[in-house]
Amino acid sequence: MKTETLIEEALHLLREGIDDTAIIACSGGIDSSVAAVLAHKAVGNLLHCVYVDTGLMRLGESEEVKSMFSDMGIEITVVDAASRFFDCLEGITDPETKRKAIGETFIRVFEQEQLKVGAKYLVQGTIAPDWIESGGGERDVIKSHHNVGGIPDDIGLEIVEPLRDFYKDEVREIARLLGIKSSERQPFPGPGLAVRVLGEVTPKRVQTCRVACDIVERMIREASEAGTCDMPWQYFAALLPVRSVGVHGDVRVHGETIVVRAVSSMDGMSARYSDIPSEVLSRISTEITNTLKGQVNRVVYDITHKPPGTIEWE
Ligand code: XMP
Repeated sequence: MKTETLIEEALHLLREGIDDTAIIACSGGIDSSVAAVLAHKAVGNLLHCVYVDTGLMRLGESEEVKSMFSDMGIEITVVDAASRFFDCLEGITDPETKRKAIGETFIRVFEQEQLKVGAKYLVQGTIAPDWIESGGGERDVIKSHHNVGGIPDDIGLEIVEPLRDFYKDEVREIARLLGIKSSERQPFPGPGLAVRVLGEVTPKRVQTCRVACDIVERMIREASEAGTCDMPWQYFAALLPVRSVGVHGDVRVHGETIVVRAVSSMDGMSARYSDIPSEVLSRISTEITNTLKGQVNRVVYDITHKPPGTIEWE
């Protein structure tokens, strides 16, 4: 189907489905951004866009999301909840417990915003693979009970899912046509950098990971633009819970370890590690240890396919 027709279809469903205040959680990711822009086109100021700053986003990401929406003339409420997220993560090292703590905190923060605006509807950017992978269900656009998007059944809102029948490539086309800047960004996990900081998630360790991630993203992008390496599907850094001995001047120091991960994949279900040329890896390693001098003294490259590994480390 033509992209223009898909857009018309989604706008029609949104106009039919929403007759009162609606709310959407925008992460800056492609699905929620497309859903928000379409819903804003369909119902204008009935829609409240909320961006929860978890303190776990990539370098400059919160600013980018704010300016992306303001450039499109859409008002977005930014909730600075970083301290709530770091508080809820205190002392947790188990990956599943971390994810649960983040999910619950997100819901509580979002609930507060919902009560402030008195929303009746929740717009979500659920796309077809999300609910197919979650066990299917009715192909309704408006459902009051489900939790595929991470917001639980008992939140008391009617769910509106304008992209429910669409696939990722269709959503990307819609984003391109609507001029949504996030359309070409690489995937980023919902729980953010928390799943790339192995061990305890503290503001300092998240910042270390954030800086290393930014270096990996920037240097691989530059290398692929220069034709030195193929563009991976996803590429980032994670901070390991391993300290090792290194030298700083004449002194032996105990420092942190960064792992660089880059994979090729079609859909994230399976993946192969990318063959990044050693001179690019070498430049990345030097840049990370120079920028994070005194904190990180070892950089390793992950050569594991999925399966048996996963793309993220947690
Ligand atoms: P794994 O690590 O399972 O990741 O091989 C496959 C893809 O999914 C992303 N990912 C997530 N995306 N919420 C998301 O929206 C999550 O909790 C989450 N965990 C992993 C990961 O970045 C990769 O692209």
